[in-house]
Amino acid sequence: MRVTLKISKFNPEQDRKPHFLDYTLEAGREMTLLSALLKVKAEIDGTLTFRASCRAAICGSCLMQVNGIQKLACQTSIYGEMWRHGKLVVGPMANLPVIKDLVVRMDPFWKKVKAITPYVVSNGAIPSVELKNIHDDLHNADGCIMCAACLSACTSFEVSPQFLGPAALAKAYRFQVDPRDAVRPDRLKALQGENGIWDCVRCNFCVEVCPKGVAPMEQIIRLRRLSLKAQWTDSVAARHITQFSNVVRSEGRLNETRLPVLMLCTYPLKMLRFIPLAVKMLLRGKMPFPFTRAPGRDQVRALFLKQRGS
Ligand code: SF4
Ligand code: SF4
Ligand code: FES
Repeated sequence: MRVTLKISKFNPEQDRKPHFLDYTLEAGREMTLLSALLKVKAEIDGTLTFRASCRAAICGSCLMQVNGIQKLACQTSIYGEMWRHGKLVVGPMANLPVIKDLVVRMDPFWKKVKAITPYVVSNGAIPSVELKNIHDDLHNADGCIMCAACLSACTSFEVSPQFLGPAALAKAYRFQVDPRDAVRPDRLKALQGENGIWDCVRCNFCVEVCPKGVAPMEQIIRLRRLSLKAQWTDSVAARHITQFSNVVRSEGRLNETRLPVLMLCTYPLKMLRFIPLAVKMLLRGKMPFPFTRAPGRDQVRALFLKQRGS
């Protein structure tokens, strides 16, 4: 099969911005994108620049965007992409600065991983639990190959580059459940502030693109649960979760009038910003009339009681 790869080219010494070049080659049915790139480099354009090492989805270095999705080139089938999309557009990872062609700077990614202290801090004590028993608690958070696909797809990181990001937070969870680690409460505390676990908007993109099934967003949710259990409920996002549940439990429905007040009562300036929205909601009949009882309220309360008892 003859295929044309549309590849992003950028040489900072010559180009002001990236542009695409077409490369046509003969591809077998089993050919991976990495093999195709190596063939282009060997036979058509020796300047084509990309990273790769293991060719076996282990080292994480060949991550790039393929038809707009973050993928490992060594794990991507040329035939499969052509069959699904009818084209092969290859670019560097998004959200990270491009050095040349398909190579990006990884230091923003590494800085985030380093920020969470990515190793066990031991006080020498022998844990009372068998290490093999923690496997289930890890939920594959230790399967990360540091490819940065999740950071490249992360919508929070895109608008807020200070956000710790999915891979670093998934790693933070990995140490949070390691019984050998002696500083777990301090680790959890460090994730509560701005740019920590509460800044994830749960878009799920990190879960979709991770080639190793680490599911970073799910690890972030686990960290949030551990935080609420440890009474870290000061942030607006944490309060949103607890008050959402409290309002539904007491009223049998979500009361959009009370929720922002309960969430933001200690931030009066932020609460003022909600006034125009509140007026709009009132005019459109979206606010429940005070003192009315929602139908089914007692059943909802009973469900909460049942859940607490189980
Ligand atoms: S779910 Fe959260 S961490 Fe994952 S990509 Fe979306 S915002 Fe980023
Ligand atoms: S969590 Fe998944 S996508 Fe993110 S760096 Fe690790 S392996 Fe790659
Ligand atoms: S070359 Fe190592 S993951 Fe692709």
